[in-house]
Amino acid sequence: MRSPLLALAAAACATLALLQFAGAGEGSPPRGGSPARAGAAASATSSEAAAGHALFVSSCAACHGLDANGIYGRGPDLHGVGALAADFYLQTGRMPLPSPRAQPLRATPALPQAQIRALVAYVASLGGPPVPVVQPRRGSLARGQQLFALDCAGCHTIQGQGGIVTGAIAPSLGPATPTQLAEAIRIGPYVMPRFSSGELSDSDVDSIARYVQSTNHPEDRGGWGIGRIGPIPEGMVAWLLAIFALLLIVRLIGERAGP
Ligand code: HEC
Ligand code: HEC
Repeated sequence: MRSPLLALAAAACATLALLQFAGAGEGSPPRGGSPARAGAAASATSSEAAAGHALFVSSCAACHGLDANGIYGRGPDLHGVGALAADFYLQTGRMPLPSPRAQPLRATPALPQAQIRALVAYVASLGGPPVPVVQPRRGSLARGQQLFALDCAGCHTIQGQGGIVTGAIAPSLGPATPTQLAEAIRIGPYVMPRFSSGELSDSDVDSIARYVQSTNHPEDRGGWGIGRIGPIPEGMVAWLLAIFALLLIVRLIGERAGP
């Protein structure tokens, strides 16, 4: 008489426990956390995202719309751009943009880190890729240089110093961190083309990041770097030095040959 009742109670307890476990597991908790901790973390990010939405309404909605659906002619829809794009545009000070027509240029971040985190959490909550993980040390320098010459040097120059392209400034890559480099490759900000992981794999990106890092501390094996802007200024310097040397010689010969 008692044992079926007990079994029933045990089964009910087990179902309840399972249901609770499943409930806490909703909203894709971070891997490896206990269900309770995961629940807490999820609500922490959702409250951060809520704080981010409030900030978004005050400083971004004028161009991107109240729910980030975009406003034609002012700013794009941010659904699906993910933490990747939000982190890039905010950490490089590109957003908030001063005017919808302006090229988004690198600047010191306009917002404090806590606000950036909240805004990134909000944009991430609309879906899209996470902030990429880059490991330049795993990349190959030779392959990085090859890929950079092929895909990037046309606009950024082979030393990554930047230049002018039609309608925009291709910035120097000196200040960009490896993470920002990977983000730019995947986004293709402004007139820069975007490169999918089919075109440049994550390990290709590691190699490019390694090459770009190496251009920040170049060796000048030939002597003076002369701004490292290539053979034309180097030739100019040689000409100027040679002209002065020739003038000096001509003058000396002229004086000797005098009366
Ligand atoms: C003056 C208008 C304006 C304001 C204000 C503004 N944005 Fe933007 N935003 C733009 C435009 C225009 C672009 C497209 C830029 C480009 O082509 O690189 C853009 C692009 C973006 C992108 C990249 C979208 C993509 O497709 O990859 C993100 C993320 C973003 N903005 C976030 C923000 C956030 C967050 C704020 C508030 C702090 C903000 N923006 C404020 C106009 C604006
Ligand atoms: C068609 C010309 C073009 C090509 C090709 C190009 N870029 Fe760019 N890149 C640009 C422009 C223009 C910008 C500035 C975008 C802006 O104002 O938001 C830029 C921005 C960047 C930035 C952001 C720099 C910063 O200071 O925040 C990085 C990093 C970058 N590019 C890396 C690359 C890499 C790596 C490649 C090759 C895989 C590449 N680019 C190919 C034109 C180009």
